[in-house]
Amino acid sequence: MNFTQAEIAPLASIEEWEDDILVRYPEAEKPAKSKEEYRNYDDPKRETVKEFYRLNHTYQTYDFVKQKQAEFLKFDKKEMSIWDACNFLNTLVDDSDPDTDLDQLQHLLQTSEAIRADGHPDWFVLTGFLHDLGKVLCLFGEPQWAVVGDTFPVGCKHSDKIVYPEFFKDNPDYSDERFNTKLGIYTEQVKTHENSANYSPFVPLDEKFKAFTLEGVEQIYKNFVTHVAEGRKMTFAQVDSIAQGRVWSGSEAVKIGLVDKIGGLNDAIAEAAKIAKIKDYSTQNYPEYEKTFSDLMANLPFAQSKEAFIKEEIGEENYMLIEQVKRFQRQKGVQAMMPFGINIK
Ligand SMILES: [Fe+2]
Repeated sequence: MNFTQAEIAPLASIEEWEDDILVRYPEAEKPAKSKEEYRNYDDPKRETVKEFYRLNHTYQTYDFVKQKQAEFLKFDKKEMSIWDACNFLNTLVDDSDPDTDLDQLQHLLQTSEAIRADGHPDWFVLTGFLHDLGKVLCLFGEPQWAVVGDTFPVGCKHSDKIVYPEFFKDNPDYSDERFNTKLGIYTEQVKTHENSANYSPFVPLDEKFKAFTLEGVEQIYKNFVTHVAEGRKMTFAQVDSIAQGRVWSGSEAVKIGLVDKIGGLNDAIAEAAKIAKIKDYSTQNYPEYEKTFSDLMANLPFAQSKEAFIKEEIGEENYMLIEQVKRFQRQKGVQAMMPFGINIK
């Protein structure tokens, strides 16, 4: 989708939407007076913020998000160290007064240092330093409303608690029934105990489950290698070096000692008789089925023979005529034939 410049950058400064947050979610300890100060609906900034959310709510659809994921998760735009990324972000120039606003890098440093001064742990200080790096997306031509601002989930019904919910009416997802239930494309997982959802495709793989599944797989593998080593009179290490999930062809298996020789069922029976020192032997199949495999198959309509199928379609008598014609075709040379066929019923 192509956007006009006015649609790409409705805000004079990319920070403008944050002022709006202070109005919507005033800090509890601030006096009400200051809240009132913010509530200046004549402020032209509020109009640009409103326009910002109108664009955001109109264009941010499920498909748009998917498309952006596909585009940016290729990670083929630019390779940068964190510090390079900060400097790159600093080239993002806002149209607002450069004298009063901090540049991006100053903002990141000020945020992280304020967190440090408050005595928070290192990870929080780092988070403060990184928190705005996503804004580099604007430098790759992404519209402001696709990068900053209050966001909302796509793929399910838009909540009326989202800022300016009235703008969702113009979003194509608004009238798409797939996205208009409470859960939409998402699922809910109910658990009866800690491990009961371990095999669920709807929750991410749990680390504990991963660990004990891996342990199980390793145990099975160890058992398997031990049995093979005993059976083939090899060491565990020898079997392990050719095992590890590999598949060998029969002839390769002979070369590496996994089998003695290659043969069919009869060879195997003869070999077994030799080991048991038996010369006179016969074989018997177990278990004995009352019905043979072909008996079972005959009852299935798709497994009928071609003949049975034709007979059913054209009738027994007509089928015999076809058979006769076929017989004539098969016979070669001079023929002496009765002028009629005898059919004893
Ligand atoms: Fe920020």
